[in-house]
Amino acid sequence: MAVKGNLRTPIVSVMGHVDHGKTTLLDKIRGSTVADGEAGAITQHIGATEVPIDVIVNKCGNPALRDKFIVPGLLFIDTPGHHAFTSLRSRGGALADLAIVIVDINEGFKPQTIESLQILKRFKTPFVVVANKIDRIHGWNPQRNMPFVASYNKQNERVKSELDRKFYEIVGELYNLGFNSERHDRINDFQRNVGIIPISAMTGEGIPDVLMVLLGLAQKFLEANLHYDANIPGVGTVLEVKEEKGLGTTIDVILYDGTLRKGDTIVVGSLGKPIQTKVRALLKPRPLTEIKSEEKFEQVSSVTAAIGVKISAPGLESALAGSPVRIATPETIDAITQEVQSEIEDV
Ligand code: GTP
Ligand code: MG
Repeated sequence: MAVKGNLRTPIVSVMGHVDHGKTTLLDKIRGSTVADGEAGAITQHIGATEVPIDVIVNKCGNPALRDKFIVPGLLFIDTPGHHAFTSLRSRGGALADLAIVIVDINEGFKPQTIESLQILKRFKTPFVVVANKIDRIHGWNPQRNMPFVASYNKQNERVKSELDRKFYEIVGELYNLGFNSERHDRINDFQRNVGIIPISAMTGEGIPDVLMVLLGLAQKFLEANLHYDANIPGVGTVLEVKEEKGLGTTIDVILYDGTLRKGDTIVVGSLGKPIQTKVRALLKPRPLTEIKSEEKFEQVSSVTAAIGVKISAPGLESALAGSPVRIATPETIDAITQEVQSEIEDV
């Protein structure tokens, strides 16, 4: 992965209530880039999508911004549901550097919206709220892929006031949970106020704003946490345990620090004793456009944080989603196995 300075790619979790549009938002971010002829620029990792900085800057429509940003891109995680997310969070420590909480502007807050916000509050993770599905507001005149304000200004007064009414309900809900919030374009201090970005994941309106605000947050509040160390042994979390044709059981892992190489000895959490095994292959999924088949993976000899990667290794059948992945040497393997075991028992 390209690395600018020595900042690693921030990990951004997309959270929210069922059907409020998490996957559609990510599809839009990946999909319109493919449509723009930049397919090769985006790598879709398993359970995670890496969007390189150049793609983001192009999407924001202002290449002059390129030099302002020193993170190499953003690694989005589509959270598979509340439970999985909690266990990922507690096992991986600060796995998510940033989060997007998505809420259907027409439905307002729902139980998982509130749960998401409570988790973020507990972990003090910076986040933005995305008020999705503005295109469903009656009379909305869609402006594909436009920044929000440009699109808003093209709506008639009735539509604008309907959006404002629904928007301030979300502000009220956030206030009840202890957060001050305001529309993202009116915020100067993102530390004191949560930004709310009205978007349509369907038409792409507001998506440039989402990317810009995330980059801004990453640079302002995370810089100190994003200095990764390529020289330390890789540390990761299992996202999923999957059977793959011809490979047997594999694990999809988010590597959040250090470097992992083919041939490394790894320790992986399981329901029983932690698994000790050797990395047989590291598989990076090729760009999105490729169909689901084992050919979509590219074998690589090493990967560096933060990245999503599939690991093929013997004996992974009992691996546990959400558990740690650590690299060990003959000297450290006993201690690391114990650490992994106790991390599992803690949860
Ligand atoms: P889960 O993964 O099941 O929690 O749902 P999700 O949050 O990923 O929602 P998903 O992206 O699957 O979207 C749910 C439905 O809402 C789909 O039918 C989408 O097409 C639709 N949808 C998502 N975003 C928008 C939007 O901006 N506008 C409209 N009109 N429909 C949308
Ligand atoms: Mg989804």
